[in-house]
Amino acid sequence: AEDPLELMDEIEALKKERNAAILSHFYTDGDLQEIADFTGDSLKLARDAASITNPVIVFCGVHFMGESAKILSPEKTVLMPDLQAGCSLAESCQPEDLARFQNELRAAGRDIQTVAYINTSAAVKSLCDWIVTSGNAREIIDRVPADKEILFVPDQHLGRYLSEVTGRKMILWPGSCMVHEVFSIQDLLRAKRNNPQAIIMAHPECPRNILEHADVIGGTEKMRRHVAAIAEPTTFLVATEANMIHPLQKIAPQHTFIPVPGIMTSTGETCACNRCPHMARNTLQKVRDALRDMQPEIVWQPFFADAQEVLRRSLLEPAK
Ligand code: 13P
Ligand code: SF4
Repeated sequence: AEDPLELMDEIEALKKERNAAILSHFYTDGDLQEIADFTGDSLKLARDAASITNPVIVFCGVHFMGESAKILSPEKTVLMPDLQAGCSLAESCQPEDLARFQNELRAAGRDIQTVAYINTSAAVKSLCDWIVTSGNAREIIDRVPADKEILFVPDQHLGRYLSEVTGRKMILWPGSCMVHEVFSIQDLLRAKRNNPQAIIMAHPECPRNILEHADVIGGTEKMRRHVAAIAEPTTFLVATEANMIHPLQKIAPQHTFIPVPGIMTSTGETCACNRCPHMARNTLQKVRDALRDMQPEIVWQPFFADAQEVLRRSLLEPAK
């Protein structure tokens, strides 16, 4: 393996040469967040991709994120360190299956609008009326006319949570995130027993039995804002992808952050089950290679045009 510090220097130089910006999601490795020009949640990174003026973006994240960046900014070159970085949620909703289900509902006389989590392919987005992220979901759901039924895809846990907080009934697609799905309630409760004062923070992609025990429920940007607002040193149990500890520690070093269920392994090491294997495909070496070779690239596809309007309306335009 090549030396990380040398790779960082090489990346810095190539970035200048290409006039590129590096965008890294909070679930990528800490080194990738350190070399990034922009870090953030799905919503912020999509908005950053649309607003920055650099002609080249290297997106350290997963495929749907790079794709969304390209759709919002077709004139830019969008590189990804590894195009194989997928997402179990996006995978769980295939466009043919969604189109068939929508047709069945309409044939049965149901007047639906489809709301998709941004964790979907462009082909799925093009079949939807609204796109949400964990950061803007409540606001967008308020924009769905009250006389419409909501079909929410693909995350059943986020959908159920949103249905509860907004009071809107929803038809839920049976998808889930492989990382958030596996958090064990036993591990969480044991961690809480060992740290009775700890505040439990959970991502709304977690199943209900985890959310029921959470003091704070929110996406990654909301978690950051929450810990930054507390001055008193506090212990947090964090139920989301374990790399999230990096930005939390950075913005609020006074606190102690314990990833769930990481502390429960007998060796004292962080359990790999709270790491996203897709996000983990992003490495310094692949970022260097992408900037050097100007590939792999998210290439514009004609069907991206169908997803463009719904993505812009949902993420870039404020409610009227
Ligand atoms: P946010 O950072 O938008 O909360 O998204 C979480 C996630 O799972 C991205 O894949
Ligand atoms: Fe997809 Fe879950 Fe990985 Fe996010 S953490 S990219 S939702 S599999």
